[in-house]
Amino acid sequence: MALSRFKRIGVGFGASAVLSAIVLGVAHMAIAQTSAKATYTEGMDKVCGECHKALTPKIVDAFSKTSHPVAMRAGSEAGAVAAVFDEDSPLAKESIAYVMLWGPYQVYVDKDMKTLRGKWNVAAKKWETMEVVDATTELIPKHTTGWDPATKKWAEMGVKCESCHGPGSIHKGTAKKLDIVNPKKQTAGKLAMICAQCHAVGASKDGTVRYAKGYKPGDDINSFLVVDKVTKPGTHQEYNEWMTSKHATAGIECNSCHVVHGEGSANHAQLVKPLPDLCLTCHKDVVASAKHPKFKPEETCSACHMPQGMHTFSKPGAAAL
Ligand code: HEC
Ligand code: HEC
Ligand code: HEC
Ligand code: HEC
Ligand code: HEC
Ligand code: HEC
Repeated sequence: MALSRFKRIGVGFGASAVLSAIVLGVAHMAIAQTSAKATYTEGMDKVCGECHKALTPKIVDAFSKTSHPVAMRAGSEAGAVAAVFDEDSPLAKESIAYVMLWGPYQVYVDKDMKTLRGKWNVAAKKWETMEVVDATTELIPKHTTGWDPATKKWAEMGVKCESCHGPGSIHKGTAKKLDIVNPKKQTAGKLAMICAQCHAVGASKDGTVRYAKGYKPGDDINSFLVVDKVTKPGTHQEYNEWMTSKHATAGIECNSCHVVHGEGSANHAQLVKPLPDLCLTCHKDVVASAKHPKFKPEETCSACHMPQGMHTFSKPGAAAL
């Protein structure tokens, strides 16, 4: 994929970043690590790695073991397709152009960017029915880095460095902190918004697609996405759920519990610490108090406070959503 195309696209992205900087005013400018002129580039994660394998080796190594970089792969890549094929399979292996991780499934997309009729349940090792949809309105943008809605092209497959740190074309030359987004240096709420690009469900502002079209890390996602109200458990709506919780108002963002790279990221949910220690870091006194119900050691905090993985962190018995 030619670099020049992404340079061209960069003009559009840049303009929207400038606009949001004006709209958001001084507070945004003061911490601005967003580089308005920076662009997303094919192969950038290798470039980031060239310096950061030496500078921050743990970060690069740990990240490479998570599901983010392999969230989308070419069907032709050795070992990418987990499904087993026989005469009853809903599709032919040759029709798979791309493989997407989606919760417990592998979802398959053809060369015309439409989902194929069957998805593979990885743990249960069986086929299930999949709706045939245009994968460019939600699925692909959430599984690629630097998706461009105008050309329907991505800079990279999978969730690579620039997905969360913003385009790095300027930082790679200057190696300056101010030219790259450090999620934990953002103002309150902005780190979770970086994750919400893909871990929220909702419609773009213009209502045409199901993702935050035009958003870049560091922006206020509310200018790009109208989040759906949570009515039932679902996949990839952690942000919508978390927004309703006291954790959101108390500033306990995704990185209080998840580490996408570094120690701990090797476990499936990339938890900072295993349960119950993670929750007890902040809730030891409450759990030990007389008003908290007693529970068996094998019952995890999440069994009662995160039913079906929901990030609402409500008190059981409290009013439903
Ligand atoms: C030419 C080498 C080089 C390349 C390429 C490079 N970086 Fe860096 N990066 C650095 C150096 C050096 C620092 C530390 C700067 C300092 O301490 O002032 C840094 C700092 C950072 C920081 C911390 C910023 C902060 O505010 O603390 C992040 C995040 C980062 N880089 C991400 C990336 C990403 C993502 C890429 C690829 C898009 C990348 N880097 C490519 C050299 C590089
Ligand atoms: C560009 C899209 C994108 C961004 C940005 C993103 N994620 Fe993900 N994330 C994914 C995809 C896709 C998967 C793997 C597919 C799946 O599990 O459904 C995933 C998987 C995960 C998982 C592991 C669960 C699993 O099923 O493998 C965790 C935990 C996670 N992300 C947390 C985060 C956090 C925290 C942030 C923000 C710092 C973040 N993600 C940012 C797309 C993204
Ligand atoms: C899914 C989102 C996501 C992806 C993808 C990602 N990062 Fe990060 N990165 C983060 C978050 C969140 C933090 C802040 C971690 C924390 O809270 O301590 C971070 C922190 C960092 C830091 C440390 C800054 C500091 O203050 O010490 C560096 C360097 C960095 N990332 C580089 C990279 C590189 C290089 C890649 C690609 C190999 C990458 N990141 C991919 C989310 C991501
Ligand atoms: C207070 C702690 C906490 C916060 C804050 C938090 N999470 Fe989680 N998250 C967890 C725990 C614990 C799990 C594992 C749930 C389980 O064991 O059922 C999890 C699971 C996940 C998963 C994996 C779901 C799966 O497929 O199993 C994703 C993705 C995720 N969280 C994303 C996020 C994002 C994005 C945010 C911020 C909007 C966030 N989380 C905020 C504690 C947290
Ligand atoms: C980094 C600290 C931190 C961690 C880690 C943390 N919490 Fe919290 N939690 C808070 C804070 C702060 C509040 C808000 C307290 C308040 O407003 O009274 C809160 C509130 C809560 C509430 C009360 C919600 C309500 O409606 O009253 C529950 C339940 C809860 N957390 C469960 C958990 C669980 C389960 C985990 C582990 C998956 C966890 N927390 C991890 C800091 C944390
Ligand atoms: C068997 C179910 C169950 C388990 C397991 C459980 N809790 Fe609770 N928790 C509750 C109930 C019920 C309440 C509401 C108590 C009340 O009415 O105040 C509660 C309340 C809370 C609160 C809110 C207290 C307040 O008044 O603001 C926190 C925080 C909390 N639990 C944390 C945890 C943590 C951390 C763990 C794991 C170590 C855990 N809980 C395990 C059922 C459970």
